[in-house]
Amino acid sequence: MKTFIFFLVASFFIVATTHAEDVSSRAAESRKAIKTFVKELKNALQQAIKTGGPEHAIQVCEEKAPEIATGISEEKGWLMGRTSVKFRNPVNAPDSWELTVLRQFEERKARGEDPKDLEYSEVIVKNGKKAFRYMKAIPTKGMCLTCHGDKIPSEVSEKLNELYPEDKARGFKKGDIRGAFTIIQHIK
Ligand code: HEC
Repeated sequence: MKTFIFFLVASFFIVATTHAEDVSSRAAESRKAIKTFVKELKNALQQAIKTGGPEHAIQVCEEKAPEIATGISEEKGWLMGRTSVKFRNPVNAPDSWELTVLRQFEERKARGEDPKDLEYSEVIVKNGKKAFRYMKAIPTKGMCLTCHGDKIPSEVSEKLNELYPEDKARGFKKGDIRGAFTIIQHIK
């Protein structure tokens, strides 16, 4: 009996630690993929602004951002994207889990946490299937204001009106949470 209890307790700890390690390695991998995304998008944006100004860069955000996200998603077998409470493209609208996390990020920021360090992950079960979900906040930087601030140049604004008639992603200030990266990793 004693041996049985020992094994029971031991296996519980093994399962618990493996689970914790699994979750932290999934989070680490998510962080790394987001870094790649940010680097690729930043390069593409800077290049576009240099060659054709911010109107041209709109196209980069419209086409390149989802393209990079899809590339990483396919490579990893995940779902990766960007979302926001005040989204520009309705395709990026948050689901209920994401909305809860976005609100949690706003509360944590209000309590003094730095937006650039805000992240959250959880293993959820949906329709009997387990998934690791991860989100990382995206702070608004100075360079974002041309297209997301409250003084958007008129050429940019007109182009945005054309492409996104229901645009909510304006009026942000430096340091605000613009939105978040979101990742779903299905667990087999
Ligand atoms: C040249 C204009 C431009 C600049 C500069 C820009 N964005 Fe955007 N942003 C867009 C467009 C256009 C979209 C919609 C993309 C789409 O259709 O998926 C977008 C979408 C987003 C989204 C996805 C959620 C949503 O609103 O649909 C996030 C998050 C975001 N931008 C963050 C940023 C951040 C952070 C910066 C600065 C580092 C930035 N953007 C700079 C034009 C811009």
